[in-house]
Amino acid sequence: MNPSQADLPIGVFDSGIGGLTVLRALRAVMPHESFIYLGDTARLPYGTKSAETVRRYAGKAVSHLVARGIKSLIVACNTATASALPQLIEAFAPLPVHGVIDPGAQAASRASTERVVAVLATEGTVRERAYHRALLQRGVQRVFARPAPLLVTLAEEGRAEGDLVRHVVSDYLDGISGGLPFDTLLLGCTHFPVFRSVCADLLGSGVQIVDSAFTTAAAVAACTPACQSRRAEVRFLATDGRERFRRVGGFFLGEPINDVEIVDL
Ligand code: DGL
Repeated sequence: MNPSQADLPIGVFDSGIGGLTVLRALRAVMPHESFIYLGDTARLPYGTKSAETVRRYAGKAVSHLVARGIKSLIVACNTATASALPQLIEAFAPLPVHGVIDPGAQAASRASTERVVAVLATEGTVRERAYHRALLQRGVQRVFARPAPLLVTLAEEGRAEGDLVRHVVSDYLDGISGGLPFDTLLLGCTHFPVFRSVCADLLGSGVQIVDSAFTTAAAVAACTPACQSRRAEVRFLATDGRERFRRVGGFFLGEPINDVEIVDL
């Protein structure tokens, strides 16, 4: 990579605004880098779609980012990582493409002392068994996984606490392992880090709660040639709903979002 390529932004792609939790971690770990974030809000949710459809949507979104010029790509969406990562790596080679499943599994494997991990994710991620494979490869002995689609809807509404959220999270956690114990909960969806404190409250201190945001950011930082320019910029693109992206996105990113460009894929 020559110096001008190193100054290109890092592309971050998600089905919507949940991936801003990953962007937040990336910016904390690499404050001097520029980022361009694309949320495919017109097609969200990916989690209930077939793998073929997710691959098609993801391919279009990534083509758009590549055409704008990026030095690497983070697939911040767990569902797109589970269904489309190998195809994206192949289609856009030699662009470095990183997913969130392996870093998430790494975080859970490090946290789990009893080697029993429960995963809350979307229907698509659970169906593809991507976390199962990644966790078992890392020596975890038992994996329970449950789709939690209502949590995506609640997070999209900007609701992360209150009685309704508590009730829904509790219902998903109650059924996750058929009553068997687990020592680590992996939040395997971009939207779920906002429910961390409700999960912690319901599960108590005996269960570690992890997500893939910081392990992904650390893995990307370790293999990204540093940007030489001093002007770190972040641009936000979405396929629909500028106002909603700004309003709810700020809640995921942890800071206000001013400009959102609407793009047609
Ligand atoms: N971004 C998706 C994921 O992490 C969640 C939202 C969706 O279903 O599109 O799996």
